[in-house]
Amino acid sequence: MPVKQSRAEELEPIERASRDQIEALQLERLQAMLARVYDRVPHYRQAFDAHGVHPSDCRALADLAKFPFTTKADLRAHYPFGLFAVPREQVARVHASSGTTGKPTVVGYTQKDIDTWAQLMARSLRASGLRPGDLVHVAYGYGLFTGGLGAHYGAERLGCTVIPMSGGQTEKQVQLINDFRPDAILVTPSYMQVIIEEFRRQGLDPRAMSISVGVFGAEPWTEAMRAEIEAGADIDAVDIYGLSEVMGPGVANECIESKDGPVIWEDHFLPEIIDPDTGAVLPEGSEGELVFTTLTKEALPLVRYRTRDLTRLLPPTARSMRRMAKLVGRSDDMLIIRGVNLFPTQVEELVLAHGQLAGQYQLVVSREALLDELTVRCELLPEHAGADRAAIGEALAQRIKNLIGVSAAVDIGLPESIERTLVGKARRVVDKRPR
Ligand code: DLL
Repeated sequence: MPVKQSRAEELEPIERASRDQIEALQLERLQAMLARVYDRVPHYRQAFDAHGVHPSDCRALADLAKFPFTTKADLRAHYPFGLFAVPREQVARVHASSGTTGKPTVVGYTQKDIDTWAQLMARSLRASGLRPGDLVHVAYGYGLFTGGLGAHYGAERLGCTVIPMSGGQTEKQVQLINDFRPDAILVTPSYMQVIIEEFRRQGLDPRAMSISVGVFGAEPWTEAMRAEIEAGADIDAVDIYGLSEVMGPGVANECIESKDGPVIWEDHFLPEIIDPDTGAVLPEGSEGELVFTTLTKEALPLVRYRTRDLTRLLPPTARSMRRMAKLVGRSDDMLIIRGVNLFPTQVEELVLAHGQLAGQYQLVVSREALLDELTVRCELLPEHAGADRAAIGEALAQRIKNLIGVSAAVDIGLPESIERTLVGKARRVVDKRPR
C-alpha cells in the first residue's frame, strides 16, 4: 500500500532547498537557455531582435519580463518542427495536442528531455504517495496525447509495476482492477467517476477496490469532485497538472500530505502570472494567466509560453517550491471534453468545408450522467434547404470524430435556425455543465 507522506530523506535535495538556492539555479539555467534559443532557433532570434532584447539583458530573474511571449500561434506558424532547437534526428519522440485549427500543436523531446520528464513524473508520483514496488494502473490515453506515455515512463522510473491499460473499455478497466489489484490509478477525474459507476453497475462495491491513490488531471476538477471520488472509491485523490507544450503531465503535482494545490517543479519550469489583456506581470498571489519558461528542455525550449490557464501562484508548503491554485478558467475558448482539448475553430473549419452548411454553428456542452456531451448545431444554406439533414449530420459527426478525436452529436437545422448575435461576439459555445 502506498505510504501517505514523503520522509525528508526520500526527497531530492532541490525539493527541500531554500528559496535562494532555487532562484540561483533558475537564473543560471534561464541565462543558458535564452542564449541557446537565440543561437539555435531563428524564431527566437527574430522575436528577441524585434523586441530589442538580447539574452545578455537577463541579469536577474525579473529581467525575464523584458522578453517576448511565445504562443500556440507561434507553434502553428512553425508547424511541425520549426521551433525545435536541435536537428530533427536528435528528437527521440514527438507528441501532439490540439491546435486551434486542423493542424495539431507538435512537441518534441530529445532522449535527455524524455529522461527529465520521467524523473519529474517519478517525483510527482512520489509526492502523490506512490513508492517503488507499487502496482500502477495507467488509464490516461496512450498515443499522441502526453498523458499515457508520460505517466508510464514516470511510474517505471519510480520503480513501480505498470499496467498500460490506456483509456476506454470501461468493463475491462474494472476487470483488470479487480484481478490485478493495483495500488494506484492514473486517469482523468471524469473517467474515474465512470469507472466507479461501472463498479456499481456490476454490483461491486467501489470502496472495496484495491486502489488507495488516484492521480487525476488533464482537465479541470473541483474540490467537490475530489470529495465525491474520495468517498466513492475510498481513496486519496491527488491533482496533477501539465501541458504538452511545456512537457506533458508532471509540470506540477500535489502532495498527498497537504492536498493544497499542485507544486510547480520550479527547478525546470519558471512560472509567471500575467494580466491576459495587457501582458503585464502581476504581483505574487494575483489571479491571472499562467506563463511558463522551460529551463532545461533541449528539443523544444519555450520562452514565456502563454498557457491560457487562469490561476494564482501560492507560497510553498509541503515542498520548497511554489504551488498553483486550482484553475479558474482559460483566457481563450478551448474546451476540454472528456479529456480531449477542443477549440471551436477546429469545428468551424469542418463546418465551413461542407458545401451545404452555413457558417453559423454552436457548440452545446452538457453533462449527461457523469460525462461531458458535445452537440454541434449547424444549419443548412438556404439554397440547400431540402438536403438530407440526418445524413449530413452523420457525415459531419464522423469527420469530427476522425479529425478532432471527440464524439459529438450533430444537429443540422433548417436555414437560419441558429440565433444570430446582433451585438458583440457570436455565442459559439453554450456551456451547460454545472460549475
Ligand atoms: O493534459 C497533460 C496531462 C496529462 C496533464 C495527464 C495531467 C495528466 P494537454 O492535452 O496539452 O496536456 O492539455 C493541457 O489541460 O493547459 C489545462 O487547461 C488542462 N489541464 C491539465 N491538467 C489539469 C489539471 C495534458 N490538473 C491543458 N487541472 C492545460 C485543470 C488541467 N486543468
